[in-house]
Amino acid sequence: EAVAAAETDPLTLSAWILTQQHKSPGARGRLTVLLNAIGVGCKFVSSAVRRAGLAGMMGMAGSSNVQGEDQKKLDLVANEVFKNSLRRSGQCCILITEEEDEPIFIEEPFRGDYIVVFDPLDGSSNIDCGVSVGTIFGIYKAKNPGSGKYSLDDVLRPGTEMVAAGYCMYGSMSYMMITTGRGVAGFTLDPTLGEFVITHPNVQIPTKGNIYSINEGNAANWDPATKKYVEECKAGTYNKGKPYSLRYVGSMVADVHRTLLYGGIFCYPADKKSPKGKLRVLYEVFPMAFLVEQAGGKSTTGTSRSLEIVPDSIHGRAPIYLGSKEEVELIEKLKKEC
Ligand code: AHG
Ligand code: MN
Ligand code: MN
Ligand code: MN
Repeated sequence: EAVAAAETDPLTLSAWILTQQHKSPGARGRLTVLLNAIGVGCKFVSSAVRRAGLAGMMGMAGSSNVQGEDQKKLDLVANEVFKNSLRRSGQCCILITEEEDEPIFIEEPFRGDYIVVFDPLDGSSNIDCGVSVGTIFGIYKAKNPGSGKYSLDDVLRPGTEMVAAGYCMYGSMSYMMITTGRGVAGFTLDPTLGEFVITHPNVQIPTKGNIYSINEGNAANWDPATKKYVEECKAGTYNKGKPYSLRYVGSMVADVHRTLLYGGIFCYPADKKSPKGKLRVLYEVFPMAFLVEQAGGKSTTGTSRSLEIVPDSIHGRAPIYLGSKEEVELIEKLKKEC
């Protein structure tokens, strides 16, 4: 009867967002409008990603971003889609995107009380070969809602102050995982409906895994604890002698999505090449850490809880180890010992 229920109970993303609003006493539906605008943005980008190969939208844009990365055409398309969709929602005061050097301040009459930090296209190095990519977002509520006064003080805050976060992975299907602080719900885009339909009502990450996910190409630069953890994964130390599997897509969204559903650990450590790691705190580390914690997992820099980082700049980076509770606790223990 599970299948019948799915066909008779249209619990779409919009309907689910409303259920979250009803759980927030006094909510006026502003976050509801905003989350729906993000859902629309993800549908537009999903469509663009799926048509890219046929519409001459693969390849480089010929520009680079503040990260020093060469931008893909789809990086820019996705960035414009979300900037327009978020502005039109009338709920944002500041936008932070990987693809813009500076914060975007939204003016009246479109200004609202939410700050959205987002990675419009994550894993874009994979787009030209058809490997899964995604969009990642996090949402803060302004410190002084309705004041009309908004600044970087509203943005450079620990991830613990986010009110919502999520990602959309453009893979075999388009999957949306989202949290408003009451657990994680997962949706699958039904292209015949043009709607995200609920498929994972309450995501719980396995407390232990047998998959480790890390870019082994950086092994020479790893710190001793990371080296030891990976060696022990290979030796099966934590798995009755059975070696873990290595799975590394190279798109954070895909590696985190698999980790959420199958368990295991995803690592992007600091190393000699990238002393603060590679992943950006506001729009990669925080949203993924928030989701994983809400699903019963953990996320650490190796020495402290990811969500407690206080960002010092809008594109600041941090090391990250996230996933099954027991796996993350192992790396934290090794960090103390090594
Ligand atoms: P983006 O495409 O948004 O710049 O992010 C790429 C990130 C992330 O998706 C992935 O986990 C990581 O880069 C992979 O880095 P390496 O290629 O260095 O392993
Ligand atoms: Mn990038
Ligand atoms: Mn990214
Ligand atoms: Mn990106």
